[in-house]
Amino acid sequence: MSDSSASDTPRWRRDFPIDHGDDELVSRRDLVKYVVLTSAALVAGQGWVLFESMRRRRRGPHAALPVAAIDELPVGGAKTFTYPPGSTPRLLVRTGRRSFVAYDQLCTHLQCPVVPAVAQGKLHCPCHNGWFDLATGAPLAGPPRRPLPRVALEVRDGKVFATGVESNTGSSGKEAT
Ligand code: FES
Repeated sequence: MSDSSASDTPRWRRDFPIDHGDDELVSRRDLVKYVVLTSAALVAGQGWVLFESMRRRRRGPHAALPVAAIDELPVGGAKTFTYPPGSTPRLLVRTGRRSFVAYDQLCTHLQCPVVPAVAQGKLHCPCHNGWFDLATGAPLAGPPRRPLPRVALEVRDGKVFATGVESNTGSSGKEAT
């Protein structure tokens, strides 16, 4: 009996089994389902963010990594490196006999690589003529408004070690000596 009634039902009726009078009820049900699913997705997202931040905190600071031998660069010389490995490029500049600074090489305006202008005590971004203070990474002129992230350095055993990446306020210079 039920087989024959199912086959008697027109195709459109099988595709759209909700009567007009039940339409509002279904919409409400759909709304509740939507709210529950959205809330579950938000809770899952928050949980993931929390998990990631705990995982990063547990991983702790990056291990020190030798990025250059002291004699590898003349005073005023520079080289790029990545720290931690696989990161965006960093720029190491030798500013004195035993002093070095290192920053993220990508300009904080639109990510062009900055180049050292050591004689002027600055870093230059040629893309839009942006300038940064070589001693602090602070923006000096042009479009950049944020300082370059600074790489903490240590000089020991004839080598320059990267020991961390600092979020830079650009307020105080810190040279590794
Ligand atoms: S990308 Fe550096 S000034 Fe625009």
